[in-house]
Amino acid sequence: MQPRLQIDGLVRFLGGRSVVDDISLSVAAGQVTCLLGPSGCGKSTTLRIIAGVDRQDSGVVRLNGQIVADDTRHLAPETRGVGLMFQDFALFPHLDVAENIAFGLKRGKAADARVAELLERVDLRGYGRKHPHELSGGEQQRVALARALAPRPKVMLMDEPFSGLDNRLRDEIRDATLTVLRDEGTAVLLVTHEPDEAMRMASEIALMRDGRIVQRAAPYNIYNAPVDRKAAAFFSDINCLEGVVRGALTETPFGQFLAPGYEDGTAVDIVFRPQHVRIDFDRGGRGPAPTAEEGTPARGTVERARFIGKESLVEFRMENVDGRGAGALVTATVPAVFLPKPGTVMWLSIRRERCFVFPQK
Ligand SMILES: Nc1ncnc2c1ncn2[C@@H]1O[C@H](COP(=O)(O)OP(=O)(O)OP(=O)(O)O)[C@@H](O)[C@H]1O
Ligand SMILES: [Mg+2]
Repeated sequence: MQPRLQIDGLVRFLGGRSVVDDISLSVAAGQVTCLLGPSGCGKSTTLRIIAGVDRQDSGVVRLNGQIVADDTRHLAPETRGVGLMFQDFALFPHLDVAENIAFGLKRGKAADARVAELLERVDLRGYGRKHPHELSGGEQQRVALARALAPRPKVMLMDEPFSGLDNRLRDEIRDATLTVLRDEGTAVLLVTHEPDEAMRMASEIALMRDGRIVQRAAPYNIYNAPVDRKAAAFFSDINCLEGVVRGALTETPFGQFLAPGYEDGTAVDIVFRPQHVRIDFDRGGRGPAPTAEEGTPARGTVERARFIGKESLVEFRMENVDGRGAGALVTATVPAVFLPKPGTVMWLSIRRERCFVFPQK
């Protein structure tokens, strides 16, 4: 199937550097791709180029198979047939809700029907005659969504559209928005700097850093197979043990890890997430037996334990085992309240398949 949106080799120089540096991606109908990355990595600039409010220095933008921007062509934003939704989704204050939604439509029966349909979709039936100042933030946001969808754009570009909403409302609106966009079959490119939002919304995440896409994958895959340490750290706190490769293996307090493809002497990081650390009590100096899944358990001493709501964070100082990983700090998350006293000795195991080995940079 032909993608609704396709960009190839987009480059944009601003302030003497390339803030968008060779970005390529495509989005199919009904798919939500999240452009995710830290502040300043070039997300909005990419979106602005696709919308046509900024121009690339090189590269091609295709919408529905048609070139809308390349070295010679530049279609005006209003002729590109994309829906736009930004953080400051200002509604027209002097127009009522129905007029706001109908703004981009030709007047008539069809427009009225479309407005009624969309009011229903965004769960605002009966709100048509209200004015924006009479609505809550979440309601205004839904009107903005309806307005952007009214002309049936094949592609929707959204830049941090939920960041103006408070936390609880945000989850609700995100899910509602997703449902509406799926029903409409719109191809969506959504910009966010929040990993949780991307994980929740995306069919595919394009992780950006310094103007480049460093990884493109479905949420599950990007979380469980990050390309590098920074990519892993973008989605949660991480633990990191240092090691050196000998014969495609590296030693850690948790036993040997496979490090295939690395030359002897390469310094590597063994990275794992706190929720993949298992904790066991010490039984007279003994811990659980080693298993194929979790390797060798290792001993650590509790340094600090905090309850943070759903779970507890327990920080351990690892014991020196034959000079391997001496003194490394490892954090484990434990569901519910679990607050062992500092100084308590416990056994830690990590799920092998949840560990990543990366070269140290
Ligand atoms: N007109 C400009 N002149 C010079 N530099 C610019 C200009 N516009 C943007 N930049 C720079 O380009 C970089 C990318 O900006 P962009 O707005 O695309 O980032 P972003 O990923 O959307 O960040 P945020 O998450 O904070 O919105 C930033 O470092 C920004 O300072
Ligand atoms: Mg931005």
